Amino acid sequence: MDDIPNDPPRQSLPADAVVIESLDHEGRGIAHRPDGKTLFIDGAITGEVVQYSPWRKKDSYEMAQMTRLLRASPLRTQPRCRHFGVCGGCSLQHIDPVGQVAAKQRVLEDSLQHIGKVRPDYWLPAIHGPAWGYRTRARLSVKRVEKKGGVLVGFHERRNSFIADMESCETLPPRISALIKPLRQLIASMELSAAIPQIEVVATTQVDALVLRHMQPVGEADRQRLRDFADKHHIQWWLQAKGPDTITAFYPPDAPELAYQLTEFGLTMPFRPSEFTQINTEINPLLIRRALQLLQPQASERIADLFCGLGNFTLPIARFAGHVTGIEGSAQLVARAEANAIRNGMSNVAFGVANLFEMTSEQLARLGHFDKILIDPPRDGALAVVQSLGESAPERIVYVSCNPATLARDASILVHEKGYRLVCAGIANMFPQTAHVESVTLFQRNR
Ligand SMILES: C[S@@+](CC[C@H](N)C(=O)[O-])C[C@H]1O[C@@H](n2cnc3c(N)ncnc32)[C@H](O)[C@@H]1O
Repeated sequence: MDDIPNDPPRQSLPADAVVIESLDHEGRGIAHRPDGKTLFIDGAITGEVVQYSPWRKKDSYEMAQMTRLLRASPLRTQPRCRHFGVCGGCSLQHIDPVGQVAAKQRVLEDSLQHIGKVRPDYWLPAIHGPAWGYRTRARLSVKRVEKKGGVLVGFHERRNSFIADMESCETLPPRISALIKPLRQLIASMELSAAIPQIEVVATTQVDALVLRHMQPVGEADRQRLRDFADKHHIQWWLQAKGPDTITAFYPPDAPELAYQLTEFGLTMPFRPSEFTQINTEINPLLIRRALQLLQPQASERIADLFCGLGNFTLPIARFAGHVTGIEGSAQLVARAEANAIRNGMSNVAFGVANLFEMTSEQLARLGHFDKILIDPPRDGALAVVQSLGESAPERIVYVSCNPATLARDASILVHEKGYRLVCAGIANMFPQTAHVESVTLFQRNR
Protein backbone atom coordinates (compact mmCIF):
# COMPACT_ATOMS: atom_id res chain seq x y z
CA MET A 1 0.00 0.00 0.00
CA ASP A 2 3.02 2.30 -0.35
CA ASP A 3 2.13 3.62 -3.76
CA ILE A 4 -1.33 5.13 -3.39
CA PRO A 5 -2.76 7.21 -6.20
CA ASN A 6 -4.50 10.28 -4.79
CA ASP A 7 -7.33 10.46 -7.25
CA PRO A 8 -7.65 7.74 -9.86
CA PRO A 9 -10.21 8.51 -12.57
CA ARG A 10 -13.62 7.05 -11.60
CA GLN A 11 -13.93 4.98 -14.80
CA SER A 12 -10.67 3.18 -13.99
CA LEU A 13 -11.95 1.95 -10.59
CA PRO A 14 -12.69 -1.77 -10.17
CA ALA A 15 -16.39 -2.65 -10.01
CA ASP A 16 -16.15 -3.77 -6.38
CA ALA A 17 -14.60 -0.49 -5.17
CA VAL A 18 -16.65 1.57 -2.72
CA VAL A 19 -16.46 5.17 -1.51
CA ILE A 20 -16.32 5.71 2.27
CA GLU A 21 -19.13 8.07 3.27
CA SER A 22 -18.43 8.60 6.98
CA LEU A 23 -16.95 6.96 10.09
CA ASP A 24 -19.00 4.98 12.62
CA HIS A 25 -18.67 5.16 16.42
CA GLU A 26 -15.83 2.64 16.35
CA GLY A 27 -13.88 4.59 13.73
CA ARG A 28 -14.74 2.19 10.87
CA GLY A 29 -15.45 3.53 7.40
CA ILE A 30 -19.11 3.31 6.36
CA ALA A 31 -19.93 2.63 2.70
CA HIS A 32 -22.84 1.21 0.72
CA ARG A 33 -22.77 -1.44 -1.96
CA PRO A 34 -24.79 -0.76 -5.11
CA ASP A 35 -27.49 -3.15 -3.76
CA GLY A 36 -27.86 -0.91 -0.68
CA LYS A 37 -26.09 -3.15 1.83
CA THR A 38 -24.14 -1.21 4.44
CA LEU A 39 -20.45 -1.93 4.85
CA PHE A 40 -18.35 -1.19 7.94
CA ILE A 41 -14.73 -1.28 6.80
CA ASP A 42 -11.82 -1.33 9.26
CA GLY A 43 -9.03 1.07 8.47
CA ALA A 44 -10.88 3.12 5.81
CA ILE A 45 -11.37 6.89 6.11
CA THR A 46 -14.17 9.18 4.92
CA GLY A 47 -13.71 10.08 1.24
CA GLU A 48 -11.43 7.16 0.46
CA VAL A 49 -12.06 4.65 -2.31
CA VAL A 50 -11.26 1.11 -1.22
CA GLN A 51 -11.68 -2.56 -1.99
CA TYR A 52 -12.60 -4.79 0.92
CA SER A 53 -13.01 -8.32 2.14
CA PRO A 54 -15.92 -9.14 4.50
CA TRP A 55 -15.22 -10.97 7.76
CA ARG A 56 -18.84 -11.04 8.95
CA LYS A 57 -21.90 -11.14 6.68
CA LYS A 58 -25.42 -10.25 7.87
CA ASP A 59 -28.61 -9.61 5.89
CA SER A 60 -28.41 -5.83 6.06
CA TYR A 61 -24.71 -5.18 6.64
CA GLU A 62 -21.21 -6.60 6.40
CA MET A 63 -18.16 -6.06 8.57
CA ALA A 64 -15.07 -5.95 6.41
CA GLN A 65 -11.42 -5.15 6.28
CA MET A 66 -9.81 -2.97 3.65
CA THR A 67 -7.77 -4.97 1.17
CA ARG A 68 -6.72 -2.21 -1.23
CA LEU A 69 -6.65 1.56 -0.96
CA LEU A 70 -7.45 3.12 -4.34
CA ARG A 71 -7.82 6.76 -3.28
CA ALA A 72 -6.29 7.99 -0.04
CA SER A 73 -7.67 10.68 2.26
CA PRO A 74 -5.35 13.64 2.89
CA LEU A 75 -5.97 12.87 6.59
CA ARG A 76 -4.36 9.43 6.27
CA THR A 77 -1.12 9.13 8.17
CA GLN A 78 1.40 6.43 9.01
CA PRO A 79 0.41 4.69 12.28
CA ARG A 80 3.11 5.33 14.85
CA CYS A 81 2.83 2.03 16.70
CA ARG A 82 4.02 -1.21 15.15
CA HIS A 83 1.28 -3.10 16.98
CA PHE A 84 -1.49 -0.99 15.39
CA GLY A 85 -4.04 -3.12 13.56
CA VAL A 86 -3.46 -6.12 15.83
CA CYS A 87 -3.71 -4.54 19.29
CA GLY A 88 -7.27 -3.55 20.21
CA GLY A 89 -6.16 -0.53 22.26
CA CYS A 90 -6.25 1.95 19.34
CA SER A 91 -8.40 2.23 16.24
CA LEU A 92 -7.58 5.64 14.71
CA GLN A 93 -3.79 5.81 14.40
CA HIS A 94 -4.13 5.88 10.60
CA ILE A 95 -5.91 9.25 10.85
CA ASP A 96 -4.04 12.48 11.50
CA PRO A 97 -4.85 13.77 15.05
CA VAL A 98 -6.58 16.85 13.62
CA GLY A 99 -8.71 14.55 11.47
CA GLN A 100 -9.53 12.42 14.53
CA VAL A 101 -10.90 15.49 16.30
CA ALA A 102 -13.00 16.37 13.25
CA ALA A 103 -14.29 12.78 13.00
CA LYS A 104 -15.30 12.76 16.68
CA GLN A 105 -17.04 16.10 16.31
CA ARG A 106 -18.97 14.56 13.43
CA VAL A 107 -19.97 11.52 15.53
CA LEU A 108 -21.31 13.89 18.21
CA GLU A 109 -23.20 15.98 15.64
CA ASP A 110 -24.70 12.89 13.99
CA SER A 111 -25.76 11.35 17.31
CA LEU A 112 -27.44 14.53 18.54
CA GLN A 113 -29.18 15.00 15.20
CA HIS A 114 -30.25 11.42 14.40
CA ILE A 115 -30.82 9.91 17.85
CA GLY A 116 -31.76 13.01 19.83
CA LYS A 117 -33.32 15.11 17.03
CA VAL A 118 -31.59 18.10 18.61
CA ARG A 119 -29.05 20.61 17.42
CA PRO A 120 -27.01 23.04 19.55
CA ASP A 121 -27.27 26.79 18.97
CA TYR A 122 -23.50 26.76 18.44
CA TRP A 123 -20.50 24.41 18.55
CA LEU A 124 -17.70 24.76 21.06
CA PRO A 125 -14.10 24.51 19.86
CA ALA A 126 -12.73 21.04 20.53
CA ILE A 127 -10.54 20.54 23.59
CA HIS A 128 -7.40 18.67 22.66
CA GLY A 129 -3.95 17.93 24.02
CA PRO A 130 -1.01 15.58 23.38
CA ALA A 131 -1.81 12.86 20.86
CA TRP A 132 0.60 10.34 22.45
CA GLY A 133 1.72 9.24 25.90
CA TYR A 134 -1.41 10.62 27.55
CA ARG A 135 -2.84 7.47 29.11
CA THR A 136 -2.13 7.51 32.85
CA ARG A 137 -4.23 4.47 33.65
CA ALA A 138 -4.36 1.11 31.88
CA ARG A 139 -5.41 -2.45 32.62
CA LEU A 140 -2.86 -4.76 31.03
CA SER A 141 -3.80 -8.40 30.68
CA VAL A 142 -1.19 -11.05 31.44
CA LYS A 143 -0.90 -14.61 30.14
CA ARG A 144 1.75 -17.27 30.01
CA VAL A 145 1.89 -18.44 26.37
CA GLU A 146 4.67 -20.93 25.81
CA LYS A 147 4.63 -20.72 22.02
CA LYS A 148 5.10 -16.95 22.19
CA GLY A 149 8.21 -17.55 24.25
CA GLY A 150 6.98 -16.78 27.73
CA VAL A 151 4.56 -14.22 29.12
CA LEU A 152 2.45 -11.67 27.28
CA VAL A 153 1.56 -8.36 28.94
CA GLY A 154 -0.70 -6.03 26.98
CA PHE A 155 -4.10 -5.12 25.63
CA HIS A 156 -6.46 -7.57 23.94
CA GLU A 157 -6.23 -8.01 20.20
CA ARG A 158 -8.73 -6.21 18.01
CA ARG A 159 -11.31 -8.83 17.18
CA ASN A 160 -10.66 -11.56 19.73
CA SER A 161 -9.74 -12.09 23.35
CA PHE A 162 -6.07 -13.01 22.76
CA ILE A 163 -3.50 -10.74 24.33
CA ALA A 164 -1.48 -8.76 21.81
CA ASP A 165 2.21 -9.69 21.64
CA MET A 166 3.40 -6.14 22.39
CA GLU A 167 6.61 -4.65 23.70
CA SER A 168 5.58 -1.00 23.83
CA CYS A 169 2.52 1.26 23.74
CA GLU A 170 2.59 4.77 22.29
CA THR A 171 -0.45 5.98 24.25
CA LEU A 172 1.17 5.20 27.61
CA PRO A 173 3.73 7.64 29.03
CA PRO A 174 7.12 6.53 27.58
CA ARG A 175 8.48 5.46 30.99
CA ILE A 176 5.43 3.17 31.46
CA SER A 177 5.64 1.83 27.90
CA ALA A 178 9.29 0.98 28.61
CA LEU A 179 8.15 -1.24 31.49
CA ILE A 180 6.23 -3.69 29.28
CA LYS A 181 9.26 -5.76 28.30
CA PRO A 182 10.73 -5.88 31.83
CA LEU A 183 7.28 -6.80 33.16
CA ARG A 184 7.07 -9.71 30.72
CA GLN A 185 10.46 -10.90 31.94
CA LEU A 186 9.55 -10.39 35.59
CA ILE A 187 6.30 -12.36 35.40
CA ALA A 188 8.01 -15.13 33.38
CA SER A 189 10.56 -15.46 36.20
CA MET A 190 7.96 -15.72 38.97
CA GLU A 191 6.79 -18.96 40.56
CA LEU A 192 3.26 -17.55 40.38
CA SER A 193 3.48 -16.62 36.69
CA ALA A 194 0.53 -18.80 35.61
CA ALA A 195 -1.69 -17.27 38.31
CA ILE A 196 -1.31 -13.59 37.36
CA PRO A 197 -4.08 -12.46 34.98
CA GLN A 198 -3.64 -8.68 35.07
CA ILE A 199 -1.48 -5.71 35.98
CA GLU A 200 -3.08 -2.32 36.38
CA VAL A 201 -0.98 0.77 35.75
CA VAL A 202 -1.51 4.11 37.48
CA ALA A 203 0.91 6.88 36.51
CA THR A 204 1.06 10.20 38.32
CA THR A 205 3.49 13.11 38.20
CA GLN A 206 5.01 12.03 41.55
CA VAL A 207 4.97 8.25 41.46
CA ASP A 208 3.87 5.30 39.30
CA ALA A 209 1.98 2.37 40.76
CA LEU A 210 1.44 -1.15 39.46
CA VAL A 211 -1.34 -3.35 40.83
CA LEU A 212 -0.60 -7.05 40.53
CA ARG A 213 -3.72 -9.25 40.43
CA HIS A 214 -2.77 -12.69 41.79
CA MET A 215 -5.03 -15.75 41.97
CA GLN A 216 -2.88 -17.49 44.62
CA PRO A 217 -0.86 -16.17 47.57
CA VAL A 218 2.44 -14.55 46.61
CA GLY A 219 5.38 -16.47 48.12
CA GLU A 220 8.48 -14.83 49.62
CA ALA A 221 10.73 -15.50 46.60
CA ASP A 222 8.23 -13.74 44.30
CA ARG A 223 7.80 -10.91 46.79
CA GLN A 224 11.56 -10.35 46.65
CA ARG A 225 11.41 -10.29 42.82
CA LEU A 226 8.71 -7.62 43.05
CA ARG A 227 10.78 -5.57 45.51
CA ASP A 228 13.85 -5.77 43.28
CA PHE A 229 11.77 -4.71 40.27
CA ALA A 230 10.31 -1.74 42.19
CA ASP A 231 13.76 -0.57 43.30
CA LYS A 232 15.18 -0.88 39.79
CA HIS A 233 12.27 0.78 37.95
CA HIS A 234 11.15 3.28 40.62
CA ILE A 235 7.56 2.12 40.87
CA GLN A 236 5.38 1.09 43.78
CA TRP A 237 3.62 -2.29 43.91
CA TRP A 238 0.09 -2.91 45.10
CA LEU A 239 -1.28 -6.45 45.43
CA GLN A 240 -4.81 -7.56 44.59
CA ALA A 241 -5.90 -11.01 45.80
CA LYS A 242 -9.60 -10.79 44.83
CA GLY A 243 -11.97 -7.90 43.93
CA PRO A 244 -10.95 -4.21 43.85
CA ASP A 245 -11.67 -3.92 47.61
CA THR A 246 -8.73 -6.22 48.32
CA ILE A 247 -6.10 -3.95 46.72
CA THR A 248 -3.39 -3.18 49.29
CA ALA A 249 -0.11 -1.29 49.09
CA PHE A 250 2.84 -3.70 49.13
CA TYR A 251 6.16 -2.01 48.41
CA PRO A 252 7.93 0.25 49.23
CA PRO A 253 6.48 0.47 52.73
CA ASP A 254 6.90 4.27 52.85
CA ALA A 255 5.51 4.82 49.33
CA PRO A 256 4.16 8.33 48.71
CA GLU A 257 0.39 8.62 48.20
CA LEU A 258 -1.10 8.60 44.71
CA ALA A 259 -2.60 11.99 43.90
CA TYR A 260 -3.25 14.32 40.99
CA GLN A 261 -3.17 18.09 41.07
CA LEU A 262 -5.72 20.60 39.82
CA THR A 263 -3.33 23.52 39.99
CA GLU A 264 -5.70 26.13 38.57
CA PHE A 265 -8.08 25.46 41.47
CA GLY A 266 -5.42 24.94 44.13
CA LEU A 267 -6.50 21.33 44.69
CA THR A 268 -4.66 18.10 45.46
CA MET A 269 -6.71 14.96 44.88
CA PRO A 270 -5.36 11.79 46.54
CA PHE A 271 -6.81 8.45 45.40
CA ARG A 272 -6.27 4.72 45.56
CA PRO A 273 -5.70 2.58 42.44
CA SER A 274 -9.21 1.07 42.70
CA GLU A 275 -10.88 4.51 42.58
CA PHE A 276 -12.06 6.13 39.36
CA THR A 277 -9.94 8.98 38.07
CA GLN A 278 -9.91 10.54 34.60
CA ILE A 279 -7.31 8.79 32.43
CA ASN A 280 -6.00 11.81 30.55
CA THR A 281 -4.62 14.14 33.21
CA GLU A 282 -3.68 16.84 30.64
CA ILE A 283 -7.23 17.08 29.29
CA ASN A 284 -8.96 16.71 32.68
CA PRO A 285 -8.16 20.27 33.94
CA LEU A 286 -9.20 21.69 30.54
CA LEU A 287 -12.46 19.74 30.73
CA ILE A 288 -13.11 21.08 34.24
CA ARG A 289 -12.33 24.64 33.11
CA ARG A 290 -14.74 24.25 30.18
CA ALA A 291 -17.47 22.82 32.45
CA LEU A 292 -17.05 25.74 34.85
CA GLN A 293 -17.15 28.28 32.03
CA LEU A 294 -20.50 26.83 31.01
CA LEU A 295 -21.88 26.32 34.51
CA GLN A 296 -20.88 29.82 35.73
CA PRO A 297 -21.18 28.92 39.42
CA GLN A 298 -22.05 31.90 41.65
CA ALA A 299 -21.55 32.47 45.38
CA SER A 300 -25.32 32.64 45.90
CA GLU A 301 -26.01 29.30 44.23
CA ARG A 302 -26.67 25.71 45.32
CA ILE A 303 -25.29 23.32 42.75
CA ALA A 304 -25.43 19.51 42.35
CA ASP A 305 -22.66 17.37 40.87
CA LEU A 306 -24.20 14.03 39.89
CA PHE A 307 -21.95 10.98 39.36
CA CYS A 308 -19.35 13.02 41.25
CA GLY A 309 -16.73 10.28 41.82
CA LEU A 310 -14.00 11.53 44.14
CA GLY A 311 -15.05 15.17 43.66
CA ASN A 312 -13.15 15.92 40.44
CA PHE A 313 -15.74 18.55 39.42
CA THR A 314 -17.36 19.09 42.86
CA LEU A 315 -14.37 20.72 44.50
CA PRO A 316 -13.48 23.07 41.60
CA ILE A 317 -17.16 24.15 41.40
CA ALA A 318 -17.18 24.71 45.16
CA ARG A 319 -14.35 27.23 44.79
CA PHE A 320 -16.96 29.56 43.23
CA ALA A 321 -20.43 28.33 44.29
CA GLY A 322 -22.25 28.86 47.57
CA HIS A 323 -22.71 25.14 48.16
CA VAL A 324 -22.20 21.96 46.12
CA THR A 325 -23.79 18.56 46.72
CA GLY A 326 -21.99 15.61 45.13
CA ILE A 327 -23.92 12.37 44.59
CA GLU A 328 -22.27 9.12 43.57
CA GLY A 329 -23.06 5.40 43.54
CA SER A 330 -19.82 4.16 45.08
CA ALA A 331 -19.58 4.54 48.87
CA GLN A 332 -15.80 4.25 48.61
CA LEU A 333 -15.63 7.20 46.19
CA VAL A 334 -17.96 9.26 48.37
CA ALA A 335 -15.68 8.62 51.37
CA ARG A 336 -12.73 9.64 49.20
CA ALA A 337 -14.55 12.80 48.04
CA GLU A 338 -15.29 13.74 51.67
CA ALA A 339 -11.64 13.17 52.61
CA ASN A 340 -10.50 15.24 49.62
CA ALA A 341 -12.79 18.11 50.64
CA ILE A 342 -11.27 18.10 54.16
CA ARG A 343 -7.76 17.76 52.76
CA ASN A 344 -8.33 20.88 50.63
CA GLY A 345 -10.00 22.82 53.46
CA MET A 346 -13.40 23.04 51.78
CA SER A 347 -16.54 23.15 53.91
CA ASN A 348 -19.22 24.26 51.40
CA VAL A 349 -19.67 20.72 50.01
CA ALA A 350 -21.67 17.65 51.02
CA PHE A 351 -21.63 14.19 49.50
CA GLY A 352 -24.11 11.34 49.40
CA VAL A 353 -24.34 7.77 48.09
CA ALA A 354 -27.24 6.99 45.72
CA ASN A 355 -27.96 4.77 42.75
CA LEU A 356 -28.63 7.49 40.18
CA PHE A 357 -29.87 4.94 37.62
CA GLU A 358 -32.92 4.62 39.87
CA MET A 359 -33.39 8.28 40.72
CA THR A 360 -37.05 9.35 41.06
CA SER A 361 -38.65 12.81 41.06
CA GLU A 362 -39.42 12.39 44.78
CA GLN A 363 -35.82 11.55 45.64
CA LEU A 364 -34.53 14.46 43.60
CA ALA A 365 -37.04 16.84 45.22
CA ARG A 366 -35.92 15.66 48.69
CA LEU A 367 -32.41 16.95 47.93
CA GLY A 368 -33.86 20.49 47.72
CA HIS A 369 -33.70 23.04 44.92
CA PHE A 370 -30.54 23.32 42.84
CA ASP A 371 -29.81 26.37 40.70
CA LYS A 372 -27.56 24.34 38.42
CA ILE A 373 -26.51 20.73 37.89
CA LEU A 374 -23.43 19.09 36.45
CA ILE A 375 -23.91 15.50 35.24
CA ASP A 376 -20.96 13.22 34.39
CA PRO A 377 -22.40 9.71 34.06
CA PRO A 378 -20.76 6.46 32.89
CA ARG A 379 -21.47 5.16 29.36
CA ASP A 380 -25.08 4.24 30.22
CA GLY A 381 -25.94 7.92 30.57
CA ALA A 382 -28.31 9.61 33.00
CA LEU A 383 -31.79 8.57 31.86
CA ALA A 384 -33.42 8.33 35.31
CA VAL A 385 -31.88 11.66 36.34
CA VAL A 386 -33.19 13.58 33.34
CA GLN A 387 -36.58 11.86 33.59
CA SER A 388 -36.87 12.85 37.24
CA LEU A 389 -36.43 16.58 36.59
CA GLY A 390 -39.66 18.33 37.55
CA GLU A 391 -41.13 21.81 37.83
CA SER A 392 -38.35 23.21 39.99
CA ALA A 393 -35.60 21.81 37.78
CA PRO A 394 -32.38 23.84 37.57
CA GLU A 395 -31.98 26.62 35.01
CA ARG A 396 -28.72 25.18 33.71
CA ILE A 397 -27.37 21.68 33.17
CA VAL A 398 -23.82 20.95 32.08
CA TYR A 399 -23.62 17.37 30.81
CA VAL A 400 -20.19 15.74 30.49
CA SER A 401 -20.56 12.56 28.45
CA CYS A 402 -18.38 9.64 27.38
CA ASN A 403 -21.02 8.17 25.07
CA PRO A 404 -22.67 10.30 22.35
CA ALA A 405 -25.55 7.81 21.93
CA THR A 406 -26.78 8.01 25.53
CA LEU A 407 -26.08 11.76 25.63
CA ALA A 408 -28.29 12.17 22.54
CA ARG A 409 -31.05 10.04 24.10
CA ASP A 410 -30.95 12.15 27.30
CA ALA A 411 -30.68 15.40 25.30
CA SER A 412 -33.87 14.46 23.46
CA ILE A 413 -35.74 14.19 26.78
CA LEU A 414 -34.28 17.44 28.10
CA VAL A 415 -35.17 19.37 24.96
CA HIS A 416 -38.42 17.75 23.78
CA GLU A 417 -39.98 16.96 27.19
CA LYS A 418 -38.36 19.07 29.88
CA GLY A 419 -38.23 22.49 28.24
CA TYR A 420 -34.46 22.91 27.90
CA ARG A 421 -32.57 24.44 24.99
CA LEU A 422 -29.35 22.79 23.83
CA VAL A 423 -27.15 25.86 23.88
CA CYS A 424 -23.76 24.45 22.87
CA ALA A 425 -21.79 21.25 22.55
CA GLY A 426 -18.24 20.25 21.82
CA ILE A 427 -15.86 17.36 22.13
CA ALA A 428 -12.79 16.83 24.29
CA ASN A 429 -10.27 14.50 22.70
CA MET A 430 -9.74 12.63 25.94
CA PHE A 431 -8.57 9.42 24.23
CA PRO A 432 -6.55 10.22 21.07
CA GLN A 433 -5.98 7.27 18.69
CA THR A 434 -9.19 5.60 19.96
CA ALA A 435 -12.76 6.14 18.78
CA HIS A 436 -13.91 7.24 22.25
CA VAL A 437 -15.89 10.49 22.12
CA GLU A 438 -15.97 12.62 25.27
CA SER A 439 -18.09 15.75 25.11
CA VAL A 440 -19.49 18.67 27.09
CA THR A 441 -22.90 20.17 26.45
CA LEU A 442 -24.86 23.00 28.02
CA PHE A 443 -28.64 22.91 28.44
CA GLN A 444 -30.55 26.00 29.51
CA ARG A 445 -34.13 25.96 30.71
CA ASN A 446 -36.57 28.27 28.93
CA ARG A 447 -38.53 30.24 31.51
C1 LIG B 1 -17.45 9.11 34.22
S1 LIG B 1 -17.25 8.78 35.93
C2 LIG B 1 -17.17 10.42 36.54
C3 LIG B 1 -16.63 10.61 37.90
C4 LIG B 1 -16.24 12.03 38.28
N1 LIG B 1 -17.20 13.00 37.84
C5 LIG B 1 -14.86 12.36 37.76
O1 LIG B 1 -14.73 13.24 36.90
O2 LIG B 1 -13.88 11.77 38.25
C6 LIG B 1 -18.84 8.20 36.35
C7 LIG B 1 -19.08 7.98 37.81
O3 LIG B 1 -20.40 7.44 37.94
C8 LIG B 1 -20.41 6.53 39.03
N2 LIG B 1 -21.58 5.65 38.83
C9 LIG B 1 -21.68 4.57 38.01
N3 LIG B 1 -22.92 4.04 38.11
C10 LIG B 1 -23.60 4.80 39.00
C11 LIG B 1 -24.93 4.76 39.52
N4 LIG B 1 -25.79 3.83 39.11
N5 LIG B 1 -25.30 5.69 40.40
C12 LIG B 1 -24.45 6.64 40.81
N6 LIG B 1 -23.17 6.74 40.35
C13 LIG B 1 -22.75 5.82 39.47
C14 LIG B 1 -19.07 5.84 38.94
O4 LIG B 1 -18.72 5.28 40.19
C15 LIG B 1 -18.16 6.99 38.51
O5 LIG B 1 -17.61 7.63 39.64
